[in-house]
Amino acid sequence: MSRAQEFLRPLVRDMPESEPILSLERMRAEYGFAPDELVKLDANENPYGALPEVREALEKLEAVHIYIYPDPECSALRQRLAQYHGVEQERIVVGAGLDEVIDLIFRVCIDVGDRLLNCPPTFGMYAFDGAMHQARLVSVPRKADFSLDMDGIQKAVKAEQPKLLFLPNPNNPDGGLITTEEFRQLADLPLLLVMDEAYIQFCDQEQTVMDEVAKHDNLIVLRTFSKWAGLAGLRIGYGVFPLEIAAAIMKIKQPYNVSTAAQLAATVTMDNIDKTVPVITRIREQRQVLLNGLAQIDWLESIPSQANFILCRVKGKSAATVADELRRQGIMVRCFDQPGLPNALRISVGTAEQMQKLLAALKEMR
Ligand SMILES: Cc1ncc(COP(=O)(O)O)c(C=O)c1O
Repeated sequence: MSRAQEFLRPLVRDMPESEPILSLERMRAEYGFAPDELVKLDANENPYGALPEVREALEKLEAVHIYIYPDPECSALRQRLAQYHGVEQERIVVGAGLDEVIDLIFRVCIDVGDRLLNCPPTFGMYAFDGAMHQARLVSVPRKADFSLDMDGIQKAVKAEQPKLLFLPNPNNPDGGLITTEEFRQLADLPLLLVMDEAYIQFCDQEQTVMDEVAKHDNLIVLRTFSKWAGLAGLRIGYGVFPLEIAAAIMKIKQPYNVSTAAQLAATVTMDNIDKTVPVITRIREQRQVLLNGLAQIDWLESIPSQANFILCRVKGKSAATVADELRRQGIMVRCFDQPGLPNALRISVGTAEQMQKLLAALKEMR
């Protein structure tokens, strides 16, 4: 072990190397595509971007707003969000993306050895943050159709007494929903339930459990501006919490965790929220176009989704090879090959033009 390595916490030193996320810079260097030539369908971003009102507001950001630290309490935004959701402002915590909010939940709730219940396949950051905070992972895999194994969850809760459970609704990577009855049972469990509504705006029908937060002292609901609002690059998301947990996070979070630009962009989005509806409708329409197009490709088995992406099982070919071939054409999709999710691709819903290009490229592959 080198001297430098000796300084590292064993937990970090012994972690396996993670596959680096393919950045726009690497796509340019390795494949020769400029960012605006790419069809980026690997991270469920919103290809239409932020509202014009947001871009205008950012352009007018005055110098004073850049050299002075941001508002540690994100007051203007939290006020808008409180009004929008009909909850007290004190319940809301804003972070540099939901990734930070998820990490903050671990920081205030999880001691070394506490148990984290996880239902894979699901968003990878829960297990990752659990490992970083030395939680013990209790895994209850989903069924083959990606629905929750409710009996398995009940048994694991009895046997292991986990403290925390994160569930995206719709789930990433399949886009499936939790039923009202499942939610009712989950909220009754003796654990802190975090409903991650990163993709909730893309559902065909109202699915949110935001109204339930005030009724349960063990329920958190998460939202992000990365997907529906097109602000992924600015990093801003939030949670609505039981009052005491929100207060605990406000006590320990880094004071200036959310940049001035991100706060402004999210506040302007909330002030113009009606104008985001047409874009969300277009994404839903293109989701159907994508699903219909994928159904014509006999080596793909795609799963209907309520989010802005579609998961496909790849048959008789390697998903990694397909993803690589697409990448050479400037099309980026997410490839999975893990227990419970072997040989699969997750494709984000893009613009009509992007969907045409992707479907044409897939149809060319025999
Ligand atoms: C289910 C889920 N939660 C949270 C996030 C993180 O969102 P953010 O960009 O706000 O960090 C993602 C991003 O892909 C996600 O899929």
